[in-house]
Amino acid sequence: MLLHVKLICLLLLAGASLAACTAGDGNDDDHQFVYSGFTGSNLTLDGAAVITRTGLLELTNGTLRQKAHAIHPAPFRLRGGSSSSSTATATATATRSFSASFVFAILCPDADACGHGIVFFVAPANHSFSGAFPSQYIGLFNGSSDGDAGNHLVGVELDTDQNNEFRDIDGNHIGVDINSLTSINSTSAGYYDDNDGGNSGDHGFHNLTLASHGEAMQVWVDYNGTAKQITVAMAPLKMAKPSKPLLSSTYDLSTVFVADEPYMVGFSSATGSFNSRHYVLGWSFAMDGPAPAIDIDKLPKLPRFAPKHKPKMVEIIPPLATATFIVALGTVSVLLIRRRMRYTELREDWEVEFGPHRFSYKDLFRATDGFKSMNLVGVGGFGRVYKGVLQSSKLEIAVKRVSHDSKQGMKEFIAEVVSIGRLQHRNLVQLLGYCRRKGELLLVYEYMANGSLDKHLYSEGDKRVLDWDPRLQIIKGIASGLLYLHEEWEKVIVHRDIKTSNVLLDSEMNSRLGDFGLARLYDRGADPLTTHVVGTIGYLAPELGRSSKATPLTDIFAFGIFILEVTCGRRPIMQVPEGEQHVLVDWVLEHWHKGSITEIVDTKLHGNYNVDEVCLVLKLGLLCSHPLSNARPNIRQVMKYLTGDMAMPELVPTHHSFHTLALMQNQGFDSYVMSYPSSTASMSAMSNNLSAQR
Ligand SMILES: *[C@@H]1O[C@H](CO)[C@@H](O)[C@H](O)[C@H]1NC(C)=O
Ligand SMILES: *[C@@H]1O[C@H](CO)[C@@H](O)[C@H](O)[C@H]1NC(C)=O
Ligand SMILES: *[C@@H]1O[C@H](CO)[C@@H](O)[C@H](O)[C@H]1NC(C)=O
Ligand SMILES: *[C@@H]1O[C@H](CO)[C@@H](O)[C@H](O)[C@H]1NC(C)=O
Ligand SMILES: *[C@@H]1O[C@H](CO)[C@@H](O)[C@H](O)[C@H]1NC(C)=O
Ligand SMILES: *[C@@H]1O[C@H](CO)[C@@H](O)[C@H](O)[C@H]1NC(C)=O
Ligand SMILES: *[C@@H]1O[C@H](CO)[C@@H](O)[C@H](O)[C@H]1NC(C)=O
Repeated sequence: MLLHVKLICLLLLAGASLAACTAGDGNDDDHQFVYSGFTGSNLTLDGAAVITRTGLLELTNGTLRQKAHAIHPAPFRLRGGSSSSSTATATATATRSFSASFVFAILCPDADACGHGIVFFVAPANHSFSGAFPSQYIGLFNGSSDGDAGNHLVGVELDTDQNNEFRDIDGNHIGVDINSLTSINSTSAGYYDDNDGGNSGDHGFHNLTLASHGEAMQVWVDYNGTAKQITVAMAPLKMAKPSKPLLSSTYDLSTVFVADEPYMVGFSSATGSFNSRHYVLGWSFAMDGPAPAIDIDKLPKLPRFAPKHKPKMVEIIPPLATATFIVALGTVSVLLIRRRMRYTELREDWEVEFGPHRFSYKDLFRATDGFKSMNLVGVGGFGRVYKGVLQSSKLEIAVKRVSHDSKQGMKEFIAEVVSIGRLQHRNLVQLLGYCRRKGELLLVYEYMANGSLDKHLYSEGDKRVLDWDPRLQIIKGIASGLLYLHEEWEKVIVHRDIKTSNVLLDSEMNSRLGDFGLARLYDRGADPLTTHVVGTIGYLAPELGRSSKATPLTDIFAFGIFILEVTCGRRPIMQVPEGEQHVLVDWVLEHWHKGSITEIVDTKLHGNYNVDEVCLVLKLGLLCSHPLSNARPNIRQVMKYLTGDMAMPELVPTHHSFHTLALMQNQGFDSYVMSYPSSTASMSAMSNNLSAQR
């Protein structure tokens, strides 16, 4: 009988119907597997995943922002289908029980700088991870697919980073994930010891650190199809499975898995801004029964990361050699001290907690060839920006050197920089970390290959003209980045300096908002009698002249100007040949009311655009840059208008008067940081001060 089934399987295999065969009942070999080491295995690997020569499954190798997947080659039928087992008929469509166990290790150079984790998952066999993101998405989802019931995916995450976006409880937890990285239940990593239960107040609970230094651990994931319960247990290697699970969730997986479909099992892993290595040493899985035991003794060895012992000097050095040695030592010391000075940094005690986000000046110096002018890619209001390549990871970075002397508020600012570093969105430029020197702050960002948008809009000659479609995509991308800052992050972040030169284009021409939060630096620690207005003339909402308080609605104003600029291909304050200056919004509004739209759209497009889209964007631009803040939409409404999910209200022409703007452009309209005394916070005082301040 068994032979017969096998024969059919072989035939089916020949017919390339692997799924139907391996998911069939009645043959133990087909619905369970065990890997004690992965040498000679046929796992389907993608991303950074490799099987090392020693048989380790290496998911990530320490390179930043990697993702990886490793999948057992044969899928399983978890629900219903061709069940030949006699008792299964009544529950033919229920999800069957399954069990998995695996041994893993996460190695981080620094336990506090670890990311992001490993997920054991069960997903439809045809599920594609190509659109998934690394970092906090752990290679499973992206911003739009996370939480989508159409994923039909169940996972158990071993997460070494706390992401508020997914309501993570800490930076060392296990969670049960259904279609989303927001776990349905999670707990700090650890185990309940069978032998000392009840003795201590915590019922025998012992902490485990997922990112251990070379310490492998075992995890068991079980789904009981009768009780509809998922349980997870873990323990140090060589310890038997604890009888009390670490985590449990009652969830009927039949509401997740589709009947009769093949499902694959595997691992997903990703790194973010930290250098971490994720390994699986052994893995087993079974349908309808406990996962077979992994042979612990056969597991491959983990690479050693402990500091190497230096060879000891046992020989007695002759006196002459000693003298030479001392002279040489002196010379070397002098050289070393001089070198040190060159790389001197400013480091204070409070910075310890931000350690992982701190880059050494030496690394940045080397990455940028000593900040050679050849590597200078831009000069912005806040400082010079250099392109560089980190020698250790070959990651391309942009380093912004901001001169800043104020010590006051620096701690808060760094705390904010670090929290901003945790913001990850496809339309934001990722901040990787910082470094401090005397009077100077260096911020390290991901490098954006296509530079800033203003260069594409205004450069003559060499660069290709941006077509309308990419322009619309850029606008939508920035709206989506702004939505994240204003509404989707744990607290409201006001950008304060939205403008075309702060919109960067990555290698795929996705638009990304840069420099967010930086404006705060100029908000603190300075003369208490001075209030600062931060931003760029032409993009400043009129109410900033009165209160200087940046709000999401002042961002909306700047966004309105930004989209008009992208559509018209003209700067917010236009120079006309007679030497006069015109305000872009006034000009657009004038033509809008005259109905002469073709005259305002960028002439470089030669009329190649969708008139409806252009009208929508122009109208939205005018609405957003309305001088009365309460007449402006919020960013969520902006998104709805852009996608056509909501109709835009009519513009009220009488309310548009731009005298305030006209005032602000009096002088120095390229001025970046403006300040004026708060006691005389009038518009005239402000414009007088404009010329005084750089
Ligand atoms: C992997 O596939 C090859 C060829 O298909 C087969 O010979 C080998 O036995 C497979 N190895 C395992 C561990 O399944
Ligand atoms: C790590 O993996 C990446 C991508 O797979 C590869 O480009 C890089 O060379 C690897 N680095 C090391 C140190 O093995
Ligand atoms: C996977 O296959 C199912 C049916 O077999 C289909 O409904 C679904 O759309 C497919 N999904 C993908 C991502 O191809
Ligand atoms: C997100 O993932 C989904 C599903 O894999 C994919 O269709 C979509 O293109 C991805 N979105 C982005 C922005 O990459
Ligand atoms: C486990 O670690 C947490 C956080 O470090 C600590 O509060 C708790 O007391 C520890 N529990 C045990 C049993 O060691
Ligand atoms: C599954 O749950 C049922 C009902 O609670 C229980 O009787 C059964 O023993 C459980 N099975 C396993 C393998 O734990
Ligand atoms: C989460 O897991 C814990 C530990 O097993 C369990 O006590 C608790 O009931 C679970 N919570 C939910 C909502 O399932």
